[in-house]
Amino acid sequence: MQRREFVLSALGAAVAGTLLPTVLRAERPLRILVLGGTRFLGPHMAEYALARGHTLTFFNRGKTNPGVLPSVERIQGDRNGQLDGLKGRKWDAVIDNSGYVPRHVRLSAELLKESVPHYLFISTVSVYASFAAANDEDSPVGKLADPTVEKVDGETYGPLKALSESAAREVYGPAATTILRPGLIVGPDDNTDRFTYWPARAARGGEFAAPGRPADPIQIVDVRDLAAFAIRCVEQRTAGVFNALSPVGRFTIGDVVDESVQAARQVVKPQPPPSAVWLPAEFLAAQSVAPWSDMPVWAPSVGEEAGFALTSAARATKAGLTIRPMAETVTDTLRWHLQRPEAERQKLKAGLPPEREAAVLAAWKAAAKPG
Ligand SMILES: NC(=O)c1ccc[n+]([C@@H]2O[C@H](COP(=O)([O-])OP(=O)(O)OC[C@H]3O[C@@H](n4cnc5c(N)ncnc54)[C@H](OP(=O)(O)O)[C@@H]3O)[C@@H](O)[C@H]2O)c1
Repeated sequence: MQRREFVLSALGAAVAGTLLPTVLRAERPLRILVLGGTRFLGPHMAEYALARGHTLTFFNRGKTNPGVLPSVERIQGDRNGQLDGLKGRKWDAVIDNSGYVPRHVRLSAELLKESVPHYLFISTVSVYASFAAANDEDSPVGKLADPTVEKVDGETYGPLKALSESAAREVYGPAATTILRPGLIVGPDDNTDRFTYWPARAARGGEFAAPGRPADPIQIVDVRDLAAFAIRCVEQRTAGVFNALSPVGRFTIGDVVDESVQAARQVVKPQPPPSAVWLPAEFLAAQSVAPWSDMPVWAPSVGEEAGFALTSAARATKAGLTIRPMAETVTDTLRWHLQRPEAERQKLKAGLPPEREAAVLAAWKAAAKPG
């Protein structure tokens, strides 16, 4: 048995009916094709779908986590034109988790249109042209000067996802297309370390740098809540465009930091215990501590980022997206983080490295000293 499956079944056996919610079987079992599926969101979707009684197929190159969920059928291929393995097969729905350029999305949508009646595309809130004000699903999306570009980077990611959405909708038509635009996806198995930084940092104990004010708003979506919403959309053939993230005003950076401290104190009990030192946005800027990358999940809601945490989740909430409590997301992320390989735990991909954080805290204390 794979480690992931063992952990899941052991956890399930240990806490069934207590911590883990019971997933009810769907009324009608479906055959679901997932393009991608083996990294972060994909396995969580698959686990939820399997618990609902559905049958899954993963389509990918066989490079990323080849051992994950070995009981799920694999079709090997490449979105860049090697789709033959999908021909002559029928599914009830396709979930496109791995579409980053419109040409790839169009290729798969055109090939599957006659044999799969519903296309769900995982997009992103990064499609929006600006975050200077609040966005909803009708806000303008970013545009590329050259729409044929296929290099995915910080500049092109959002506009390419917007073009990919259009490709899916043009081929399938709006009534058979679902576009989910997640905000920051967080929780167990997150390979970016952005949200994970906070519980991991609290678990090291001692004073640590926290950004801005505790009341600063943030938005996230727990990968398991997003996975369940996506599968429900497939089951109910919910078509349309949905921002998929926590409602405006639900969470603050103070929630993330406070729950991280609580979880660390309960699970790890580090000495000295963790305690946050809140550093104003202006001080962080003067220290060249960058929002989002050095202080993940957070950005000051001013200027070009004034709408950073104001993306409407009302439509998805009405359609059934539920958001679990912050404490649950933080604690489960910490428990997952603690069983990662040592090398991954030692070198996180986001957040302030320990030496830099020590220098920033020292500068704060020096600045606070009278005289
Ligand atoms: N992380 C976030 O905070 C965030 C926020 C908003 C939106 N999103 C969106 O969430 C989605 C899910 O990301 P994820 O990493 O969790 O996805 P995933 O589906 O779990 O993993 C990516 C999959 O794509 C496959 N793949 C990559 N290139 C391929 C190719 N050329 N042909 C066939 N398969 C290919 C990979 O397998 P192989 O390498 O084996 O091919 C892997 O199975 C993405 O669309 C992303 O834009 C993420």
